[in-house]
Amino acid sequence: MSDFIQSLSATTRFCAVLGYPIRHSASPPMHNAALQTLGLDCRYLAFEVRPEQLRTALEGAKTMGFIGLNLTVPHKVLALNMVDALDASARQWGAVNTVRFEAKSATGEWIPLGQGGAGEEIRMQGFNTDAEAIVRALREDLKVEPRGATGVVLGAGGAGRTAALKLAAEGAACLYLVNRTEAKARAVAEEIQRDYPKTQAILGYPAGSVDFLLNATSLGLKPGDALPWDESVFRLSQTPAVYDMIYRPAVTPLLQQAQKADCRTANGLGMLLYQGARALEIWTGQPAPIEVMRAALLKAVAPTV
Ligand code: ATR
Repeated sequence: MSDFIQSLSATTRFCAVLGYPIRHSASPPMHNAALQTLGLDCRYLAFEVRPEQLRTALEGAKTMGFIGLNLTVPHKVLALNMVDALDASARQWGAVNTVRFEAKSATGEWIPLGQGGAGEEIRMQGFNTDAEAIVRALREDLKVEPRGATGVVLGAGGAGRTAALKLAAEGAACLYLVNRTEAKARAVAEEIQRDYPKTQAILGYPAGSVDFLLNATSLGLKPGDALPWDESVFRLSQTPAVYDMIYRPAVTPLLQQAQKADCRTANGLGMLLYQGARALEIWTGQPAPIEVMRAALLKAVAPTV
């Protein structure tokens, strides 16, 4: 108990994740383990904030000297119009998942509060660390290099759209886009054709083999969910690598089947880890202790049986 009391003081600063719902977020243990390792007098909290209260919550965090925030569902797009400045990443991906609070210095520069910034005038800068995390997870956890690759992307919601566009931006040769609501996949294909014409975007499944399959649908989150792909049209033997953005459960029916088909597999834990690691670096200016964060995440999402 005394450790607990001594570890918090009037100089302790805060960061947090805002979402609705938020109860099951694994971000607090991941970030607090990192903050402790870095020896920072800072804690990471989670707040359940309804979308209609987002602006008030952002202003509150600003007033109270928070160093940064993560935003999750349903706030990422809403926040675009609420922050004072947008980093190129937030502009490019049309969503903010990381907010950094910055103070104006005597010379007019904006210095992050988590990097020594102090002053009367504070602004919020919005970043997006999700897109980068997707390709880092594919590279590091699945050994898939997007440049020149051919892949299947299942899902064309927020996550699927960002994944497909980021893969195209990284130089993927060809992406097969599949979504229950085909019009959404078509809209993503059109965006790719317009912005990244070197990448071929094709609706539906490939007849031959690809380098990877990525699931960005929510199918697999709940027991009894249908499989996220059509087994009668695409066989997992057509791909050597399968990524599922879902991390709870750790092994979805898709990943189970992919393992049986001898594919390399990875779940969405890496994405959660890498987006968080980058956010921490944006706030503090220090390299994120990746392995400490990974261990804390694994512990936090481990099934309790
Ligand atoms: P996220 O931000 O996580 O991408 P989302 O935008 O709601 O969340 O997208 C969810 C994705 O899962 C979409 O691709 C959705 O398909 P639709 O665009 O047709 O809605 C997909 N999805 C959700 N439930 C599904 C179901 N029962 N069958 C097939 N696809 C489903």
